[in-house]
Amino acid sequence: MLFAALALAATAVQAAGRERLSLDSGWLFHRGDVSMPVVKGHGMSYHNGKANGAWGAAAADFDDSGWRRLDLPHDWAVENPFDRNENASQGYRQRGIGWYRRYLPLPESDRGRHIELQFDAVATHSTVWVNGIVVDRNWSGYNGRSIDITPYVRYGADANTIAVRVDADAQEGWWYEGAGIYRHTWLVKRDALHIATDGLHANPVQRNGRWSLPVEVTLQSSAKAERSGTIDVVVIDPSGREVAKGSARARVAALESAVAHIKLDVREPKLWSLAQPHVYRVRATLRDGANELDRTETQTGFRSIRFDADRGFFLNDQSVKLQGVCVHQDHAGVGVAVPEAIWEFRLRRLKEMGTNAIRFSHNAPAAEVLDIADRLGLLVMDENRHFNPSPDYLKQLTWMVRRDRNHPSVILWSIFNEEPLQSTEPGYEMARRMVSEIKKLDPTRPVTGAMHGGLFTDLNAADALDVVGVNYQIGAYDPYHKKHPKRPMTSTEDTAAYMTRGEFASDRAGQVFGSYDDEPSSWGNTHRQAWRAIGERPFIAGSFIWTGIDYRGEPTPYEWPSVGSFFGAMDLAGFAKTAFWIHQAQWVKDRPVVKLVPHWNWTGREGQAVHVMVASNAPRVRLLLNGTAVGEQDVDPYEMAHFKVAYAPGRIEAVALRDGKEIARDAVETSGAPTRLVLTPDRKALIGDGLDAMPVTVSVVDAQGRPVPTTNAHVRFEIDGQARIIGVGNGDPNSHEPDKASERSLFNGLAQLIVQGRRDGRGELKLRAFAEGLQAAEVVLALQPAPAPPSVPTAEPTTPLLGWRVSPAYATRPDPNVVLAETDMNSWGWDEPPMRHDAGAKSFRLYRSSVSVRADRNDGRAQLGFGSIAGKAEVWVDGVKLGEKNTVEPAQFAVTLPQGGPRRQVTVLVEAAPGQPSGLWGRVVLEPGVR
Ligand code: GAL
Repeated sequence: MLFAALALAATAVQAAGRERLSLDSGWLFHRGDVSMPVVKGHGMSYHNGKANGAWGAAAADFDDSGWRRLDLPHDWAVENPFDRNENASQGYRQRGIGWYRRYLPLPESDRGRHIELQFDAVATHSTVWVNGIVVDRNWSGYNGRSIDITPYVRYGADANTIAVRVDADAQEGWWYEGAGIYRHTWLVKRDALHIATDGLHANPVQRNGRWSLPVEVTLQSSAKAERSGTIDVVVIDPSGREVAKGSARARVAALESAVAHIKLDVREPKLWSLAQPHVYRVRATLRDGANELDRTETQTGFRSIRFDADRGFFLNDQSVKLQGVCVHQDHAGVGVAVPEAIWEFRLRRLKEMGTNAIRFSHNAPAAEVLDIADRLGLLVMDENRHFNPSPDYLKQLTWMVRRDRNHPSVILWSIFNEEPLQSTEPGYEMARRMVSEIKKLDPTRPVTGAMHGGLFTDLNAADALDVVGVNYQIGAYDPYHKKHPKRPMTSTEDTAAYMTRGEFASDRAGQVFGSYDDEPSSWGNTHRQAWRAIGERPFIAGSFIWTGIDYRGEPTPYEWPSVGSFFGAMDLAGFAKTAFWIHQAQWVKDRPVVKLVPHWNWTGREGQAVHVMVASNAPRVRLLLNGTAVGEQDVDPYEMAHFKVAYAPGRIEAVALRDGKEIARDAVETSGAPTRLVLTPDRKALIGDGLDAMPVTVSVVDAQGRPVPTTNAHVRFEIDGQARIIGVGNGDPNSHEPDKASERSLFNGLAQLIVQGRRDGRGELKLRAFAEGLQAAEVVLALQPAPAPPSVPTAEPTTPLLGWRVSPAYATRPDPNVVLAETDMNSWGWDEPPMRHDAGAKSFRLYRSSVSVRADRNDGRAQLGFGSIAGKAEVWVDGVKLGEKNTVEPAQFAVTLPQGGPRRQVTVLVEAAPGQPSGLWGRVVLEPGVR
């Protein structure tokens, strides 16, 4: 094992093309900070100022043997219990500081390639070291970064170390933000001459009825001399056919970048629309002669967008009212580490509600979320986190625009939300600079910002925007439009009304809200009022309700014991509240919608009037109780239909009528006692690639199979097969049950668990649910085998001894334990193996290094191995001779390291054979001993 890597090095052949490898697996994690030693004294201070002089957990050879092993994405905040002393806004969960480390092997064949480390997002502030060298610092939990680590890495047997310190004491939001490396991490290997990350810009434009696709390809080179290449671009239509292509040549100077422009015409493309979101792919291939150097693809779509000051938003020249929602990014069970498949579920649920637009508030979403929005046909307001045009923050803004500017779904950039400076000249000046930066990268999309005041001052941030965004101030819609009749406007945020799923009476003491849409916040409006104000004004492009889905934190208007929001049209698990049905009735136009609330389990209220709301897009509805008509009404398209019905158990039905004819019907029945658990998976099969995940709904029915909407039974889960439960939830904002568990109480009849297939998973997955007094449930799901996405293999730590001091040659045997003064940085040299010294008159030399001994190697068995020592040698550790090599020929050598302190000084005295070269010719490494 020790020397196998040397052979690997000798056969190095450089790999070609691009490899994008998942780096999600095999991380080591430590909760809390790891204190750094105090820097004192000459030697330590000197070392501290050097490139690879990181200390503590950032150091390459830090002992992480006791750390927890996990795979990313990871949110450690959601693993913590709720704690009343923590911040209500962040959901009463401890955040703090955490460290991650990972060992990264790179074969010799990677030498000469460009090696990039990518973090899609880390909450919140973070610093990254590679081999003890600080390579990146980042000041936001919402932006991705690509770190060129080519200069710092080593190839062959010694794994590189990546260390990440994450500071989640820092907060950027007033909502739950999670903590840790919560999006994906990648290692991208490319040729030295390559297409830059996010370097393929392809955003179709329409002029005079003709479509063209101006493509821009940014090349970068880490080569040592100027290189050139040919770039071929092809456009692939949704059926997989190539519909346009073009080429360009480019020259790139060493360590420079260059941009190639290729303009393509695409005849009569299939347009991207909400109903038919045709997605095209654009592929760019970089070649040097016949050699493919790099290749990348992006997703785009042909659609035109326009905001009109009088008539709102147009997609493909057709008026589309924005039926939008704001959402944060956490979900039940998983915190902010939301698998792509759960995002797809969330977006699908929103689409079912009639949503056609999403504002990712108040930050850019994960890249894969926009791919889903493209595919499902949803419009996106892509929002930047920080209102700040200083260089650090502009970097975050331009990262977002570069990454997202090809997506057909993205129709608006948003540069701020409710900024106190919005009404002022600085607010205007800041906004103006940010808008200008966006226009350099994307002149095709308008820029908005969410104003919650300051609209009428002489100079304010709205004066710098293309589309004026208004949060909540319904009263400002008309006067602002009157004052600025040429400015397009949209609501950027509205509504903010409270509801608790499945509750139908507010209870202040219990911190519960009824679900009849009559609990607006003090600054907001009911769902029905807010939409009416927008629906009746053609000049307001649309609505973005606060919020589509509940989120952790911001338990407004309450505090403890409430830990999550009440604003969602759906709860944190994506279960519908009444607002879901109201919006569905208001927004869905292509199919009949009728939904009756509340449930019909009101034992003890017989004969009393119950408020029944029927949400429907039909013009009229009839209500039947146990087959008898108890009311009929025209439906107000904003307010819906409302009845008072004397309660009698049985079946209540709402019949949607058009021209007197039934077009749809909804029925609710009084249930009997809870009898049986039911598990309802969202899909029939799960892919066993370690990524796919699926929500499973847990509910209870009575003996007749009718859902019991009032039960809060405590349910326990078991899973068999190559999958695991990654989280549970029930949508109750007052629940303090853990997210990471295999049990959960139902809340008003429902709970959710999320299962994820393991990598290389196959076969059957059996899920069972148990609750006291109830019949258990079992579902069997197929776990479909699928090739796991290419990834970097998990590597065990290696402890190479680097950073050697080398004495001058001595004519006679020196004392191997001679002390080298701490202040003397010069009389002995500095080197790393292989260290080869030519024959000379003086034949003795000392080599000295130190090694950090990991706890799992400090067992008296570890081997200090020398790949090759030329000459006779003595190996001394902390003043004790551990071994002697008596032959002069270059050969492997090893000594056993006794148990001892965590850091040892190693000195090797080498005596050259007369006239022969000598030295430490091979790597020196501390390896676990054989047990
Ligand atoms: C807005 C704010 C949102 C959220 C909301 C609650 O003022 O933009 O982030 O806090 O209020 O209603």
